Amino acid sequence: MIELKTPAEIERMRVTGRFVAEALTEVCRLAAVGVNLMDLEHHVRGMIKRRGAESCYWDYAPSFGDGPFRNVICLSVNDAVLHGLPHDYALRDGDVLKADLAVSIDGWVADSARTVIVGTPDAEDQRIVRATEEALDAAIAAAVPGNRLGDISAAIFAVAQAYGYPVNNEFGGHGLGRTMHEEPHVSNRGRGGRGLQLRPGLTLALEPWFARTTDRIVYDRDGWTIRSADGSRTAHSEHTVAITDDGPMILTAN
Ligand code: MF3
Ligand code: CO
Repeated sequence: MIELKTPAEIERMRVTGRFVAEALTEVCRLAAVGVNLMDLEHHVRGMIKRRGAESCYWDYAPSFGDGPFRNVICLSVNDAVLHGLPHDYALRDGDVLKADLAVSIDGWVADSARTVIVGTPDAEDQRIVRATEEALDAAIAAAVPGNRLGDISAAIFAVAQAYGYPVNNEFGGHGLGRTMHEEPHVSNRGRGGRGLQLRPGLTLALEPWFARTTDRIVYDRDGWTIRSADGSRTAHSEHTVAITDDGPMILTAN
């Protein structure tokens, strides 16, 4: 079942989205050489508490993790790309950090992720970050009434192909609203003109992520963190978007 949201409900998700954006901006600002991932985790915990928000991650026990998750943010470094479990690690020069955050305020969820390079950036790392950001822009542009879900997937895949990055098909975007993970699944690889018709009121988390040289993933021994199978570096960009008659609304913009 896919639940369409009213304009008033989308407005409430926008309120949550603005907070998620603020928190991610703060994480990216704080991410520097020597900063521990646990410092970032605790900083966001404080922000969530002060705002009266609720973490969507804390105690979450999905099939894809060795649950329950006991942190409020996913922090994935270098070859780690999704669901990175915060741990005692001090960031190093050139690290590629992905921060992924979903919270709920007054019952409405927003989910967003950004990639930031710590210290001196490597040109190849900058390129893959740019690729996921461009893929996200393309995905958002395709999120209009009349298009189909496959048009979003195809838009992401086309950008990946232009850059020469392979695309994994197991983890992608998703519907969200009252909860973090709702139908439909949004593949990062697909054919245009196929799948669900996009209608006003559909709210989606769009989240292209790529690894430089593989579409395969491996789980870390921590039971959560997903890494590129060949150890190559990765990037991830995610926004929560509402499909409306006036075009796509980015709910997790600052
Ligand atoms: N925010 C992630 C997503 O985009 C989900 C993380 S779930 C966690 O789907 F349990 F790992 F935190
Ligand atoms: Co998501």
